[in-house]
Amino acid sequence: MTKTESVHGIWASRWVFIFAATGSAVGLGNIWKFPYIAGENGGGVFVLVYLACLALVGLPLLVAEVMIGRRARQSPANAIRALSIETAASPFWRHVGALGVVAGFLILSFYSVVAGWVLHYITVTSQGALVDIGQDQATRLFNQLLASPQTLFLWHSLFLILVMAIVAGGVVHGLERATRLLMPVLFALLLVLLGFSVASPSFGQAWNFLFVFDWSSFTWQGGLTALGHAFFTLSLGMGAIMAYGAYMPNKASIGSAAVMIALLDTLVALIAGLIIFPVVFASQMSPDAGPGLMFITLPVALGQIPGGQILGVMFFILVSLAALSSAISLMEPAVAWMIERMGIGRIKASLMVTSLAWLVGIGALASFNVLNDLQLFGLNIFNLLDFLTANLMLPLSGVLVAVFVGWKVHRYISEDELAFSNHRLFKVWYLLIRFVVPAAIGVIFYQNL
Ligand code: TRP
Repeated sequence: MTKTESVHGIWASRWVFIFAATGSAVGLGNIWKFPYIAGENGGGVFVLVYLACLALVGLPLLVAEVMIGRRARQSPANAIRALSIETAASPFWRHVGALGVVAGFLILSFYSVVAGWVLHYITVTSQGALVDIGQDQATRLFNQLLASPQTLFLWHSLFLILVMAIVAGGVVHGLERATRLLMPVLFALLLVLLGFSVASPSFGQAWNFLFVFDWSSFTWQGGLTALGHAFFTLSLGMGAIMAYGAYMPNKASIGSAAVMIALLDTLVALIAGLIIFPVVFASQMSPDAGPGLMFITLPVALGQIPGGQILGVMFFILVSLAALSSAISLMEPAVAWMIERMGIGRIKASLMVTSLAWLVGIGALASFNVLNDLQLFGLNIFNLLDFLTANLMLPLSGVLVAVFVGWKVHRYISEDELAFSNHRLFKVWYLLIRFVVPAAIGVIFYQNL
């Protein structure tokens, strides 16, 4: 029952699909999170474990998600439903997609708050506020931002409006056009910044930090962080990639597209590390600053080097573009689902999803200031949303997708849809998706509880 059309549209070519999916994968996870968790976990070994997790868990799941999407050519929730009906699986499986829709919408609400910080830092940096700034001042600047609900509200709203404008435009006129515009700029900025960092005297130190392995710095905790991040960085577990797969042209090979997406995503994360660490090392700062690495350490470091202001503005523009192309993939599954389910238009659906994410996001941003004391299970709203989605919902829906594809969907459907030219590759993928992926995710899940 392979379909060639989706009611939402089809990407013009397989390259558009690859770049749209790469745009989804490359985001705050690569530029903000990856360098700081690599820094906290000692560099080299962490990077090695992370690469192994990407290959053994992330890649097979990426293939599975694209496959489900393209087979059914509907929003993730309805795609899983359609496939479970096709394979006569139990009605339980029909609800798995709904979990993803809810997760995506919750991630969007706090992702937009962090993206708002980035937008704020574009203006702060361009006004020269970071020139010669010290650690204390930089910390104060960041805390001031968090303490101001008005400022956070402004940027959060602006970011969501941008995302909505793109998603409301539809697959071809919104998502595809944004991809064609954003991705080349993103890669160009990335290469310019990489050029500066390669020329920096501290480049060698950064290189060694990321690529020289020292097994003594390995910890299981770091291993688990690496596994969880492999998941987050490839946008797996909530249907973002599944939704994009639904718009993929029929003849394009899923396997090679998935390899390309994973490679590009990894490359960007490594380059982000190679951009951030030389700056950090050049000013003798520590690589293990945690989440503040991008908002506190980096501004301090940039403030001390020549040309730091321009580099800083370019850097924060880069991050905001990456966040934008990821956020549209967080909104698309819910919007596509509402269009199919309620029979409403795309503009109306985008408006509804945006409004809801906007409201939840207001709760998230207020948890840094006015709602500081509101705690549930010892977490404020922002941290609760993060924990609930990244640590619980994504792994849960990931494991369900792997079990569904590996054990419920008839093998011939996967073989037919994937159409690997080499049958041995199919066998390897099938083995990974049936055994390795569920086992590995089971471990993170267990550890996080
Ligand atoms: N992958 C993106 C990043 O690295 C974030 C993201 C977009 C995401 N869509 C997702 C994460 C879906 C999990 C699920 O920033």
